[in-house]
Amino acid sequence: MTTRISIPLKDSYKLFNHGPVSIITSAHGNKRNVMAASWTMPVDFSPAKVAVVIDNNTYTRELVDASGEFGLQFPMRKIAKLTLDVGDISGRDNDKFSRFGINTFSAEKIAAPFIEDCIGWLECKVIRQGAETMDVIIGEVIAAYADAEQFIDGRWHFSSDPQKRSIHYMAGGEFYMTGEAFRVESGHSAE
Ligand SMILES: Cc1cc2nc3c(=O)[nH]c(=O)nc-3n(C[C@H](O)[C@H](O)[C@H](O)COP(=O)(O)O)c2cc1C
Repeated sequence: MTTRISIPLKDSYKLFNHGPVSIITSAHGNKRNVMAASWTMPVDFSPAKVAVVIDNNTYTRELVDASGEFGLQFPMRKIAKLTLDVGDISGRDNDKFSRFGINTFSAEKIAAPFIEDCIGWLECKVIRQGAETMDVIIGEVIAAYADAEQFIDGRWHFSSDPQKRSIHYMAGGEFYMTGEAFRVESGHSAE
């Protein structure tokens, strides 16, 4: 089990500023679901907000529209196959949690479950959804958590274990793993 730490909401963008693929969880009444989502991004620091694209035809969209909330998490490489699997079939007629034996734990402020083996987790409340903005949904982040082993002193220190790294989706089942960090100094050098 991954040890999690709470992250200040204003810093929640740091969990996915590097563009990893995500998994969106949702629940309404006794229904719950899970899908893969590549198209997610931070859009504000405070109040912290995210934009996610959730196709109108998905079962996830039905549950997110009905409940007004969703869980957003960023899988480690060790669950790359699961990420692809939950993005490949709909949960409308299948409980993907039992079908794929997904390990979950409870979120604190939303009903949607969270998934183990992720680097970060966000609890989100829908603040704008709409046909006029295509399938983009804006959520306010109401709680944020990160893998305590890899998010230290307010930033990522990714593990040397490749199975713990976040992943980026291309297409056709091809992913990239998050690589090594490097720094550059901003500004102009003194003349
Ligand atoms: C890696 C990956 C990324 C995906 N990204 C998105 C996305 O950003 N938005 C979206 O609407 N669907 C995306 N999909 C497709 C959904 O995950 C897919 O339609 C899923 O079966 C919907 O499940 P549901 O009907 O149970 O909600 C993605 C699929 C994969 C495999």
